[in-house]
Amino acid sequence: MGYVGRSSNGKIAGYGALDVVLEGLRRLEYRGYDSAGVAVVADGVISSRKKSGKLNNLLVELEENPLPDSLTGIGHTRWATHGGPSDQNAHPHLADGGKLALIHNGIIENFAELKLELVGKGVTFLSETDTEVAAALLADIFRSKLNGDVSDGGLTRAMQLACQRLEGAFTLLAVHADQPDVVVAARRNSPLVVGLGEGENFLGSDVSGFIDHTRRAVELGQDQIVTITADTVEITDFFGAPAEGKEYHVNWDPESAEKGGFASFMEKEIHDQPDAVAQTLLGRSDIHGRLTLDELRIDVELLKSVNKIIVLACGTSAYAGQVAKYAIEHWCRIPTEVELSHEFRYRDPIVDGNTLVVSISQSGETMDTLMAVRYAKEQGAKTLSICNTNGSTIPRESDAVLYTHAGPEIAVASTKAFLAQITAAYLLGLYLAQLRGNKFQGEIKDILADLGKIPAKIQRILDNEGQIKDLGRSMADAKSVLFLGRHVGFPVAMEGALKLKELAYIHAEGFAAGELKHGPIALIEEGQPVFVVVPSPRGRDSLHSKVVSNIQEVRARGAKTIVIAEEGDEAVKAYAEHVFYIPEAPTLLAPLLATVPLQIFALELAQAKGYDVDQPRNLAKSVTVE
Ligand code: G6P
Repeated sequence: MGYVGRSSNGKIAGYGALDVVLEGLRRLEYRGYDSAGVAVVADGVISSRKKSGKLNNLLVELEENPLPDSLTGIGHTRWATHGGPSDQNAHPHLADGGKLALIHNGIIENFAELKLELVGKGVTFLSETDTEVAAALLADIFRSKLNGDVSDGGLTRAMQLACQRLEGAFTLLAVHADQPDVVVAARRNSPLVVGLGEGENFLGSDVSGFIDHTRRAVELGQDQIVTITADTVEITDFFGAPAEGKEYHVNWDPESAEKGGFASFMEKEIHDQPDAVAQTLLGRSDIHGRLTLDELRIDVELLKSVNKIIVLACGTSAYAGQVAKYAIEHWCRIPTEVELSHEFRYRDPIVDGNTLVVSISQSGETMDTLMAVRYAKEQGAKTLSICNTNGSTIPRESDAVLYTHAGPEIAVASTKAFLAQITAAYLLGLYLAQLRGNKFQGEIKDILADLGKIPAKIQRILDNEGQIKDLGRSMADAKSVLFLGRHVGFPVAMEGALKLKELAYIHAEGFAAGELKHGPIALIEEGQPVFVVVPSPRGRDSLHSKVVSNIQEVRARGAKTIVIAEEGDEAVKAYAEHVFYIPEAPTLLAPLLATVPLQIFALELAQAKGYDVDQPRNLAKSVTVE
């Protein structure tokens, strides 16, 4: 966060920089929370406080050691990359004899070489971070190249020169005691937006940092520097040439970024899911059941010529990608691969002009996925982004975008974005089938009608969540939980396991049910809890009976079986310790329902253990480093 504020006769009017920056950090804390820090400029002096741990630790520190009132400030919450999460490594980092403060997101890849050079010049470093190197470089340029002269650009000019020497990904924000009413920022491969106020201006990693103050935002381009004062916003490139940002209106409701009465953001977001799916379907088909994805803005002929699809994503989004594969291949008959972005990027994949690369990302900022998309583009592929965050980097750099409309997702562990991603992937699959004539219009209309019924069915699961909540609480002492599924139930099983790992720090694995007998079955011992996602007994009957056999196999070896099955499926009862029934749905659409009890289970179990479900240890919502 950065802020230069409103004054009246040189005095603070209403609120100061610290209020704005801390409030912004509170909203942005989901991006990283292993330490936090702020710096303000007051009376020509920089004052800074920083503390390891969550933002609250910094607030306590600020109570004990308050900062002076100020109109200019910066603040940061960290997710450690270089150097552990200590007070010392927290940002801001100071340089120029304490006159310059700098905060940073990303990784400076050539920091070791720069550090050597600066050490050679007599600079000493207090932390292990790459950030402190950037601060020292900026200070060195400001002092030795510009002689500390603030008349001709000063800090802005120094930032331009510093950025020319930095490699890697970074958002940098700096303040200097000699330019007390300016914050200078730079961005390369890392997010940064400007908020435009009246007599005040803001900088944030995303707009939620300042939506309480303004809805006018400016999106910065790649390799740009921005200098804000209370009344001006000036953008240049790294070489000082004037540049323009793109202004847009933020239509997020600040209320929707709050918990809405639930104990945690995650619980709220699980309960937002009927809406997230409904919103994602909204306005995307006409009354004849024809999909109208005009917003995709990609040449229809080009889509028709696609002969291979590669889905790229990380974490939960990658499991949405796996569900997408089953649906797209079934409906469109286009070979579809799913790959973790970071694995794709470095394995020399086979991609050409007829390949459609579909990236899935809630944040639109995941660096691994961004780099994979860029690589695919370089290889000539067409790129389409399924994304939940308007204006974020991945959709901006893709040829086409299909937004999920789940609304802001704050809890680190993804829930509603996952269901919205699956929904969007279905829409994409059906759209391709429509374009290419793989399905009759009537068939597409029927599937869309089935999809339209899903939100109410999710609501039914939520209305009856008591049983799964009780089970979650009763299993707080479990040491390990396994999840089995076949077909689309397989990614659901893996997502169920991931939720438990992320939230409750329990060893959990999701397996393809058929794979069990090839090894993992050795893990089964007396009392081992095993969740089994059972497909509908209607339709693909062989699939159902195979999974029922798998339940018997683990049960015979002492497992405690917990079954997610479709209403009316009596066959599973005999083999299950617990059965959770979900409403009927076609096999391919069932993940939108079967996932929900697994999310609630993980949430309740983690809460019973007393853990912070919104901000699990070691994780960050948006991982903007590779
Ligand atoms: C992080 C988050 C996960 C998320 C993954 C992908 O690891 O902790 O919850 O699934 O990133 O994020 P994206 O924003 O690309 O969907």
